[in-house]
Amino acid sequence: MHLLVTGGAGFIGSNFVRLALQHLPDARVIVLDALTYAGNLSTLNDVSSNPHFRFYPGKIQDPVVVEGIIKAEGITHIVNFAAESHNDRSILHAGSFIETDVLGVYVLLEATRKFKLERMLHVSTDEVYGSIDEGHFTEQSPIEPNTPYSASKAGGDLQIRAHVKAFGTPALITRGGNTYGPYQFPEKLIPFFVTRLMDGKKVPVYGEGNQVREWIHAMDHAGGVLHTLLHGEPGQVYNVGDVNERPNHEVVKILLEETGRDESLIKRIPDPRKGAHDKRYSMSADKLRGLGWAPTHPFEESLRATVRWYRDRQDWWRPLISTDDFQAFIARFYGPSLGEDL
Ligand SMILES: NC(=O)c1ccc[n+]([C@@H]2O[C@H](COP(=O)([O-])OP(=O)(O)OC[C@H]3O[C@@H](n4cnc5c(N)ncnc54)[C@H](O)[C@@H]3O)[C@@H](O)[C@H]2O)c1
Repeated sequence: MHLLVTGGAGFIGSNFVRLALQHLPDARVIVLDALTYAGNLSTLNDVSSNPHFRFYPGKIQDPVVVEGIIKAEGITHIVNFAAESHNDRSILHAGSFIETDVLGVYVLLEATRKFKLERMLHVSTDEVYGSIDEGHFTEQSPIEPNTPYSASKAGGDLQIRAHVKAFGTPALITRGGNTYGPYQFPEKLIPFFVTRLMDGKKVPVYGEGNQVREWIHAMDHAGGVLHTLLHGEPGQVYNVGDVNERPNHEVVKILLEETGRDESLIKRIPDPRKGAHDKRYSMSADKLRGLGWAPTHPFEESLRATVRWYRDRQDWWRPLISTDDFQAFIARFYGPSLGEDL
């Protein structure tokens, strides 16, 4: 297998690269990543000297780059993690989301068809289903995205569906739950809060923090993607979830405990996503479990271990939060509500 992993310098992609190199000793793992603010080569330091690994900088929506790599490396499979992935940023400007999450998927599909690749797996999200008050989404649930981010991901998913129907392209989709673990860019809830709490800064909680999210560890998410690549059926969708629902306020309580802080560092702010903030995500992963996959990371223990990882790996995240881009985003998005606590 000559595997092209797009977005492999990001959070879940880099965890997947580690897993693939470990579990597929005969495979070559080629990463294509645009190294946006969210992609970081230092995330791949530990695999960079592996002879089965190679890195290319570039954008997935550039057919010249994608086709050049497929030819040069004899690519047989693609797994697409590349995306603009942050809901809050999509509220500020959605253009780059459409370019990467919709156009980029189309370019990868066309290349899969043109070069008759064996498989293309597209990594999507449970957020395409929208919010659910009771019960669980299944792969048959309607697509009802509520943010520009989830709408762009749904656009990619629909491109896959159409390509499978129209051309028989051997593509398939995974839809993962909210993911936590090492190497997550410190703008998403868990690493954003952990890094701020470690510095004694206040953390912004939207309202009472009652939004319910289903959490899965990055290695379990990566494992679900690998299992689907090896055992899933082309044309199918597989949910990758861990039936592990928590209201945000419960997650924040664990983060406060593990960083040795108290509730005085919580600042309740009005929800900047307004009506677009999904109340609850929950999905059934029975279809993938039926293929023999199961997550192995217990939530609370693994969340505490993640906090300790951020405590130990300040060399990784401190440079990321000191950039002008990061500071400008935080000021623009949270400045009005955090005020002097920014
Ligand atoms: N993080 C989550 O909780 C979660 C949950 C479910 C699904 N997902 C999906 O999993 C995938 C990976 O998410 P993540 O959290 O690791 O994201 P991330 O933002 O950490 O990483 C995305 C990576 O893609 C790269 N990238 C962005 N645009 C690109 C482009 N045009 N061409 C090439 N590379 C590009 C970035 O440089 C970065 O390395 C995404 O598709 C996301 O929608 C994420």
